[in-house]
Amino acid sequence: MTAAERMVKYWARVEEFQASNEDLLIATYPKAGTTWTQEVVDGILNEGDAEKCQRAPTQVRMPFLEMTAPDGSSSGITKLEVMDPPRVIKTHLPVQLVPRSFWDAGCKVIYMARNPKDTVVSYYHFDRMHLNQPEPGPWPQYLEKFMKGQLGWGSWYDHVKGYWKERHNKNILYIFYEDMKEDPVHEVTRIAQFLRRQLPKSTIEDIVQMTTFSAMRENPMANYSSIPDTIFDRTASEFMRKGEVGDWKNHFSAEEDVAFEEHYRKIMSDCPVPIRFTI
Ligand code: A3P
Repeated sequence: MTAAERMVKYWARVEEFQASNEDLLIATYPKAGTTWTQEVVDGILNEGDAEKCQRAPTQVRMPFLEMTAPDGSSSGITKLEVMDPPRVIKTHLPVQLVPRSFWDAGCKVIYMARNPKDTVVSYYHFDRMHLNQPEPGPWPQYLEKFMKGQLGWGSWYDHVKGYWKERHNKNILYIFYEDMKEDPVHEVTRIAQFLRRQLPKSTIEDIVQMTTFSAMRENPMANYSSIPDTIFDRTASEFMRKGEVGDWKNHFSAEEDVAFEEHYRKIMSDCPVPIRFTI
């Protein structure tokens, strides 16, 4: 069974998942900085205690809601069923597919968006290294698929617009990868306020230090080194690859950039999410 077939088979369990109002959902389009946001949130909830944050790998501490595994044992729902709220839950589902119970319970949601050019570059390298993901094929065709919304979890454009439109109707804190990179103290403070945690400035600074790209790359509980080489081919790429804003400039040709910009302007014109491609 392919990963897609497994997800279809498993879907009813996701849809029927019962969230508690103490649960927190971290939602992103793939490669937007999910793991980074998760680590920041765990740092805040544990008041900057690095040892507590290293109690287990990311995917154990904060299960991936719609994730399925061939043997079922490490599927997101299976892990969540044996955890007591408050749980921190990761999802890549677009807003309209988030299980209803999250909204009925009034759960808090943190949504992180990343500019689409860096997102597609990161996704491309991830698909090169993740042996359970479809083969990415050549970059130009991969970019076209992204623009047509044909990669896993669908259209980036609909994803970021969907959460943006709902952010005031629902309990959603909408943040940006580029802002976090530019001013992490400010963004970590915003997240802490959203989570109603009063933390001294020194603790915020500790959390920022614990969650820099280089600190997380060296942290075995935050860098996915627990995923075996049979799933992550680290000879192709690293999970913690570059962690930068603007790496797209090393991948997009001048023609690709012109076509992308034109398509982007058209498709985003009905919902101007303030995305920045450089900082
Ligand atoms: P790159 O491939 O551009 O390096 P996700 O967690 O959603 O899968 O996103 C992974 C991307 O976020 C990767 O981007 C990864 O390097 C980057 N990332 C992870 N931790 C980061 C951090 N602390 N600071 C900046 N970027 C980070």
